[in-house]
Amino acid sequence: MKYTEPMLREGALQGKTILVTGGGTGLGYSMSKYFLQLGANVVIASRKIEVLEQAASELQAETKGQVLPIACDVRHYTEVEKTIEATLNRFGNINALVNNAAGNFISPTERLSPKAFDTIVGIVLQGSYNCTLAVGKHWIAQKQPGVILNIVTTYAWTGSGYVVPSACAKAGVLALTRSLAVEWAKYQIRSNAIAPGPFPTKGAWERLFPPAVQDKINIAQKVPLGRVGHHQELANLAAYLISDYSAYINGEVITIDGGEWLNGAGEFNFLNQLPASMWDEIERAVRSANKTSS
Ligand code: HXC
Ligand code: NAP
Repeated sequence: MKYTEPMLREGALQGKTILVTGGGTGLGYSMSKYFLQLGANVVIASRKIEVLEQAASELQAETKGQVLPIACDVRHYTEVEKTIEATLNRFGNINALVNNAAGNFISPTERLSPKAFDTIVGIVLQGSYNCTLAVGKHWIAQKQPGVILNIVTTYAWTGSGYVVPSACAKAGVLALTRSLAVEWAKYQIRSNAIAPGPFPTKGAWERLFPPAVQDKINIAQKVPLGRVGHHQELANLAAYLISDYSAYINGEVITIDGGEWLNGAGEFNFLNQLPASMWDEIERAVRSANKTSS
């Protein structure tokens, strides 16, 4: 057995319908793929419908599972409500929500505009709240149990320079996780979170580790185990937390980072080492990521 291999037994998520925000790319895609392999139906929702449709057809071809792509900007509650309606129309049920959608980029805080903060907090915190509220209202009205899994970061509790809007937003999502773990337990709704260390994805790497930064730091060397994460090991953990095998886990945040945060809390504080003169070049590189699809 290796950490790169699927962990749960066949059919562990059979018959469940799981909504994964940001499920068309990166870690959301990898989690969705594994949920499908375990027998779930998956709804992938984010802004770019062409990216979602491409992902859905790849996922269906690879897993033979059922995938519904829906265009949804999680910042807008009405779009979230429509996503749930479309999910119920297609699959008749919804059993789990994975709040995975996020926006982030590195920048010295004093270079940010007020809108930069609104944008990141809007996607990460307001977006997670919107999805949680809409799905939770549905579960409570239907008197049915549910599972919420929030993808946060290790700097949700340590804070980190150079990603301040994201740190504030993820701290809020962690508070949401722990608050509802208690409040909604009476409805048999569990809330947990995963805090990943570095797992290579195009979206994160373009915005957080552009070439000028990678020239200065070896990301794997920040991790005591000396490597970055493998998507399957995160998908294994997510599937476990969604499944009934974790029925007594509620209000937990599980760190999967090879020991990175304990080795140097504040994941992007290392950017203090960069001279101020480098930030124009870095900002150009990071902004260019927004012109391509994530
Ligand atoms: C300074 C910037 C900036 C930059 C954007 N802004 N990029 N400011 N430096 N590099 C400012 C803009 O000028 C604008 O403010 C405001 O932020 C909103 O930017 P827009 O481009 O208009 O927003 P939008 O098109 O909605 O794009 C959102 C985005 C983008 C978050 C900026 O990066 C995106 O779509 N990201 C989605 C995918 C993603 O981020 N994945 C990474 C997740 S990784 P003004 O005032 O100028 O209008 C993660 C975990 C990290 O979260 C941990 C890893 C180890
Ligand atoms: P990613 O591929 O860029 O994923 C982000 C997703 O969010 C994209 O699919 C994007 O799709 C979606 N999204 C952005 N804004 C949205 C909005 N307003 N409404 C709906 N969807 C939106 O990056 P990733 O690395 O896989 O990140 C996935 C999650 O893991 C995030 O929560 C991130 O914070 C967390 N994380 C990642 C790492 C890592 O090392 N990769 C480490 C710690 C935590 P659209 O562009 O189509 O909207």
